[in-house]
Amino acid sequence: MKFFIDTADKNKIMDLMSTGMIDGVTTNPSLIAKNGDDMAETIKGICNIQNGPVSAEVTAIDYDGMVEEGEYLASLADNVVVKVPLTQEGLMACKTLARLGINVNVTLCFSLGQALLAAKADATYISPFVGRLDDTGENGMELIRDIVKMYGLHGLHTEVLVASVRSVKHVEQAALLGADVCTIPPKILLELYEHPLTGKGLDAFMADWANTGQSILPQGHRGMRDESKRLVLGPDDGSFAI
Ligand code: E4P
Repeated sequence: MKFFIDTADKNKIMDLMSTGMIDGVTTNPSLIAKNGDDMAETIKGICNIQNGPVSAEVTAIDYDGMVEEGEYLASLADNVVVKVPLTQEGLMACKTLARLGINVNVTLCFSLGQALLAAKADATYISPFVGRLDDTGENGMELIRDIVKMYGLHGLHTEVLVASVRSVKHVEQAALLGADVCTIPPKILLELYEHPLTGKGLDAFMADWANTGQSILPQGHRGMRDESKRLVLGPDDGSFAI
């Protein structure tokens, strides 16, 4: 399962890229507004620091406006994925943009029927919002399970991108259910590393080690790493470099 990072904050993206865990980025108008910078500059900036897919959402809600904005957003960088809302006109725009060779992420999906329509509209990604479904008392992850099953049954190629992620559990369940991508807020990504027993175990190892008085590196050992080169990690396809 690919990890996208759900933020428009370039500094946070740069920090997390260095973990080697990030395969792409998603934004939406609310995240752009929260960040406060110009949208086109923000998207170009994010695309400059990593080559993974970067979702940029249209703000028009009519077909012509969405296609026009979508073409413009796609012209900003090769790795832009145009995000359109799951409405009738949004899916018409999706089909048109897909015919133009532009990757499309259909967002605001809350039902199986909507996910079926998005696949028929040639969406590259469908974004079901699990957290917002949970907020209404439904179980968002059940929708993921059903979409993965339905796309599998019919051989549909649209990737299931789990969005509106609120917890580590959401990420774990997304992976167990066979989702293709999970877009994760930076805070949740960092929580994925954590387990109380890991911290406790490490403290105990360090205390026992200190008692030995040993050091793994012999005295006077000279580092073999070239410190002038910062270690830069990226996804296995090598799409990240600074
Ligand atoms: C990502 O593509 C979505 O826009 C985002 O995950 C929505 O998350 P929220 O429901 O926490 O706003």
